[in-house]
Amino acid sequence: MGKNKLQKFSEMEQFPHVFQYTFASLQDMKEPFEKKGKWAEFFKNDNPIVLELGCGKGEYTVALAELFPEKNFIGVDIKGARMWTGAKDSFKKGLKNVAFIRTNIEIINAFFDENEVSEIWLTFPDPQMKKVRKRLTSTRFMQLYQQLLKDGGLIHLKTDSNFMFTYTCEMVKANGYPVDFCNADLYHSDFSDDKILSIKTAYEQQWLDRGLTIKYLKYRLMHKPDFVEPDVDIEYDSYRSYNRSKRSEKDSSGSTINKAMDLKSIQNLIEKRLASLDLGKEPKGLYEPISYEFSLGGKRLRPACALLACQMFGGDVREALSAAIAVETFHNFTLLHDDIMDKADKRRGKPTVHKVWNENTAILSGDAMLTLAYQILAECRPNVLKKLLDIFNKTAMEVYEGQQFDMDFETRDDVAVEEYMEMIRLKTAVLLAASLKMGAICGGASESDAQLLYDFGINVGLAFQLKDDWLDVYGDTETFGKNIGGDICCNKKTFMLISALAKADAGTKVELQTWIDKEEFDREEKVSAVTAIYDKLEISELAEKEMREYYQKAMDALGKVSVPDEQKQTLSQLADDLLYRDK
Ligand code: IPE
Ligand code: IPE
Ligand code: MG
Ligand code: MG
Ligand code: MG
Repeated sequence: MGKNKLQKFSEMEQFPHVFQYTFASLQDMKEPFEKKGKWAEFFKNDNPIVLELGCGKGEYTVALAELFPEKNFIGVDIKGARMWTGAKDSFKKGLKNVAFIRTNIEIINAFFDENEVSEIWLTFPDPQMKKVRKRLTSTRFMQLYQQLLKDGGLIHLKTDSNFMFTYTCEMVKANGYPVDFCNADLYHSDFSDDKILSIKTAYEQQWLDRGLTIKYLKYRLMHKPDFVEPDVDIEYDSYRSYNRSKRSEKDSSGSTINKAMDLKSIQNLIEKRLASLDLGKEPKGLYEPISYEFSLGGKRLRPACALLACQMFGGDVREALSAAIAVETFHNFTLLHDDIMDKADKRRGKPTVHKVWNENTAILSGDAMLTLAYQILAECRPNVLKKLLDIFNKTAMEVYEGQQFDMDFETRDDVAVEEYMEMIRLKTAVLLAASLKMGAICGGASESDAQLLYDFGINVGLAFQLKDDWLDVYGDTETFGKNIGGDICCNKKTFMLISALAKADAGTKVELQTWIDKEEFDREEKVSAVTAIYDKLEISELAEKEMREYYQKAMDALGKVSVPDEQKQTLSQLADDLLYRDK
């Protein structure tokens, strides 16, 4: 597609409005650049001169030139092959108020006299998070710009980068530059210059499509002798912008690392790590039930979420593996105790630990699994360990709270839907959310992105437990791996039972209440009678509608995470699969 670079370069040589000077070629020149101080002659008018520094393909320069014929625009960049696009386009359009300079921005003062420039546009510059000297809004560049920009001349910054925006705002503040406009979400602000708003380059549209906000800052560069470099700690952006190098492709030494893993490979990695746990030890009565529980499989949903979250931010999945396995171990511990509490005989298609051994064994092996979870968690990198531990502890306590509410509700008949939602948030959703957040932290996500994934996890978790409760009535024992009707037998106050009690007419309500109050009953009989009531009241549809709502909320949160959509795909697919699961 398109022309090759050499062809473009030769065309660039021919364009009357393109000037190409590298640092070396400028040094070889005896005289200063011929247009320096004489741009008015070139444009044949005294109109204000506006620069776009780092103009790339020049589409923004060209768009500005078309919108503002009373100004002259000059795009500056070092990349000639890209600039060719704008140069060619403006040439074809016959625009008289456009020029391009191919050079290093660092030597831009060689091309303009003092006060020759009226405005500077910086459109989506590389934030240069690690190199302040290379950042186009650092004080080093302010010093450079003031050599050509009029006193009080405008500088416009448009960026998708929170880092770049925050840094520049701080720099502007530290140096006392007057601000004309500043908003972190240009397209939802009260900014009213339709002309400026109407220019959306292809990249800008892509950022908007990814749910990122475009930030815009317009300030005045007052000439001054001294500059203050702001002394602030700014959180790095957790994603790479288009056309900036990808962290996951190369490390600092240039070698290729961590290609994104698909779900299958991630699951294999989890199984391998679980299989490597040292559980063949004595006493067998303590360790065998642990291996047994792990060997039965399970969806490994929580560790998969942790690894996917890590990977989403460009991290190597192995960075999050210990955290992931710790969470899965904790989850399996809760199952051992939960099955005693719920008198459940079957899990993952096999008899539960307290059935194969006995309740005391399930209690003690469960305790050992909780400690094992901490042993594994302790293997995480020290720089994230404290954060992970805090999340883990908070979450564990919440799970216990949820489990207690779940039991308390068995003997209450006035449980509200809101109470049920809070109970399942605690017993189920927080662990899923914590897995995601922990994974995100291991992957180097920002606080806000980690929190968005947490919110995503809460909503997926709520939908997940609603589905779990639905499957407990409408699932198939073989596939689901648990005995159907367990919740009905225990009078679990699920969304279905609560809704049935609320929806039933007087007669049906009495019938349902009678089943709830029965101390002695035939299991099969109670399950089919209550299920028949649910069917009559169309509770299944109601629950499914509820699930979809939480699923949608989850997707909304995921949509706001500041990484490209393609990096969210596996996780969003996983959430999708959960909604349609039958096990
Ligand atoms: C079961 O969780 C307990 C609930 C929170 C519903 P899972 O359905 O994730 O169980 P496994 O690990 O896949 O067996
Ligand atoms: C499980 O809730 C919550 C925890 C294990 C913490 P349930 O009791 O509904 O889970 P299942 O149905 O036994 O898997
Ligand atoms: Mg339970
Ligand atoms: Mg249970
Ligand atoms: Mg259940």
